[in-house]
Amino acid sequence: MKTFTERQQIQLVPIAERYKHIQPKPQLPNFAAVIEGVDLTQALTEEVKQELRQALLDFEVIFFPPVEISNEQHVELARVFGPISLGAFHQRSGDNPEIEVIENDASRPPEIDHWHTDISWVENPPRGTVIQIREVPPYGGNTVWSSMSKAYAGLSEGFKTYLQGLTATHTWEVSKWREYLEILGDEALIKGVTKFKPVHHKIAKYIPEVDKTVLYVNETFTKRIDDVPENESKYILRFLAEWIKNPEYTYSHRWEKNGIAVWDNRLTQHFAIADFWPNRRQNYRVTFNEPDQVEQLQSKKLTEQLSETV
Ligand SMILES: [Fe+2]
Repeated sequence: MKTFTERQQIQLVPIAERYKHIQPKPQLPNFAAVIEGVDLTQALTEEVKQELRQALLDFEVIFFPPVEISNEQHVELARVFGPISLGAFHQRSGDNPEIEVIENDASRPPEIDHWHTDISWVENPPRGTVIQIREVPPYGGNTVWSSMSKAYAGLSEGFKTYLQGLTATHTWEVSKWREYLEILGDEALIKGVTKFKPVHHKIAKYIPEVDKTVLYVNETFTKRIDDVPENESKYILRFLAEWIKNPEYTYSHRWEKNGIAVWDNRLTQHFAIADFWPNRRQNYRVTFNEPDQVEQLQSKKLTEQLSETV
């Protein structure tokens, strides 16, 4: 009998062989690498950009040591990984509508202390996100990432087979966004409901670039598993929400001022710990799309798209 304690061997990324221009230092096997040897204040060469894209696939979330960069350099860094995405409903940085600013202080408590993947409530969610924490609290305020490839790989074969045929409904309406839009007023809420209808995603999502399957449900935006009894959906989602919190699948990042993280939104979920409140924390965020979504974005100016959102 095969015991469940048997672990599947994982093939470690051959770092010395694969990387010649950057130095990734993983914090866990094949997960969460600090990238050394890159100067983000200078234009990046094609070789470096290529290795950064590879590192994001290999390690799912990558970090850069603290560095002062301009808003333009922040956006340029996101462009290394994909065309800039529309983002969500967050406040924008004045001259750079691509940048969302998430500021917390005594009067604005943090609200993203729940597991999620960014904007899974659209048909084509952003491929990933680049954040810089421009102001760090004196203590606390870590962000935790969970590897969805590790979480999926850890399940039994029978359970994987069960999940493979299923899709789930994702919508911002089950999240705090609804409350936020309600506060803005009926018009904003109606616009949100009209523009962003619920979408369906496969629960076991195959990612060809890494030849891995990931778990793609999150407790913030996933409303229900489609075509199964309501209670089955409820308890399976509850189980999966707990499953991904296994400390073995997660990495908790302690921020320094101007530290930067880039994550693949398909391969990970994240949780911004709210323990620093009422201290101040300022997060600059840019989301980027799948590479093949270039044309869709070019066909419409970003600013026009933004003005259409709530
Ligand atoms: Fe997020």
